[in-house]
Amino acid sequence: MLIKEKDVFETYESEVRSYCRKFPAEWEKAKGVYIYDTNGKEYLDFFCGAGALNYGHNNPYIKEKVISYLQNDGITHAMDMFTKAKCEFITYMEENILKVRGLDYKIMFPGPTGTNSVEAALKLARKVKGRSNVFALMGCFHGMSLGTLALTTEKMARGGAGVSLENVTHIPAPYMFDNLDTIEFMQKLLDDDHSGVEKPAALVLETVQAEGGIYPLDTDWLKRARDFCSKNDILLICDEIQVGCARTGSFFSFERAGIKPDIFCMSKSIGGMGFPFALTFIKPEYDVWKPGEHNGTFRGFQPAMVAAKAGLEFMLKNQLEKEVEKKGKIINDFLKKELNIISKRIDYRGVGLIWGIDFNNFPDGTALKCSKECFDNGLIIELAGRKDCVLKLMPPLTINSDELFKGLNIIINSIKKILKEL
Ligand SMILES: Cc1ncc(COP(=O)(O)O)c(C=O)c1O
Repeated sequence: MLIKEKDVFETYESEVRSYCRKFPAEWEKAKGVYIYDTNGKEYLDFFCGAGALNYGHNNPYIKEKVISYLQNDGITHAMDMFTKAKCEFITYMEENILKVRGLDYKIMFPGPTGTNSVEAALKLARKVKGRSNVFALMGCFHGMSLGTLALTTEKMARGGAGVSLENVTHIPAPYMFDNLDTIEFMQKLLDDDHSGVEKPAALVLETVQAEGGIYPLDTDWLKRARDFCSKNDILLICDEIQVGCARTGSFFSFERAGIKPDIFCMSKSIGGMGFPFALTFIKPEYDVWKPGEHNGTFRGFQPAMVAAKAGLEFMLKNQLEKEVEKKGKIINDFLKKELNIISKRIDYRGVGLIWGIDFNNFPDGTALKCSKECFDNGLIIELAGRKDCVLKLMPPLTINSDELFKGLNIIINSIKKILKEL
């Protein structure tokens, strides 16, 4: 019996499937900021592969480099052996991205996903400091494997673990309580011999909490967090997986605060054109791994290294960091004006090209309704935050201003329609 295409997924794909439920189309092609379903319907993409497609779908510059590499029978899989592609990627990254920013880090290739990078960072920090506890912020998202899920705070995600998630102390995020100085709070946990909290090996954070609801952490707070770690012999780990690669303006999101982490994690857009790829950056003095102590088969996917180098070249050639600052201002001005007209009860916040429109003052499900309305009108946009109450605007960094306004207008018109119907 032939199974209808539509039924294939429901019949055979696990119930765990997720984004296909939010964006119920069958996708076939994509180019730049547009993605097309099998009926040829065009959608503007403000979801951006959850941050994996900063340089747009099928970026022609990157794609050309990858095609040429494959056509020349470039090696595709090499474990972690030395290769020309890896040498060229490392050299470019060190010379053109790290050194020019005064950053001195060794590059580790963990498995090819974000969670692999954070797992590696956690293992290393615990090994360096000989402590098992780690501090993480409430509202954070760092991955779904057991070590990283112990950091991630979302209740539903944690519920899937099936074992207790341990060795993490969650600290209120700085935006959560007006009258709580969270740096002082952490200091108190260390100094008070009745706090009941073990000194951590590391503090792990996203400089902009993304899945948590788009909360850019205050730069003064980030500086103080850096000082807190240094003063107390704790490593600072920055998770750049979603907000790195120029998403916030500067290539690394921690540059906004002028801080240098001890370890930082990258994945998603570092893979150039949506290829699985992850890196863990380590200050040389903390690179205490024994050879093979954190191994894995897919740490050497060479086409991703080619795409990653091309992505960096593209980013620099097109001055994407400046572009993001310009477009971020366009979004800020637009939302300020338009949301204010619709309702003073809508919050919004963001930086660079990651913005959240927050419906926490409205009935549960309002943001979901807006997202569905956007989808019906040809724009895909994801939700984030507590109770999924935030619309997350995350277009490719390559978006032009016509496309940006087109997307923003779809969002505003959708919000108007949904709020009228409440
Ligand atoms: C900040 C952050 N860290 C880690 C991860 C996990 O990455 P992956 O889904 O590739 O495992 C994500 C994924 O959304 C993320 O946003």
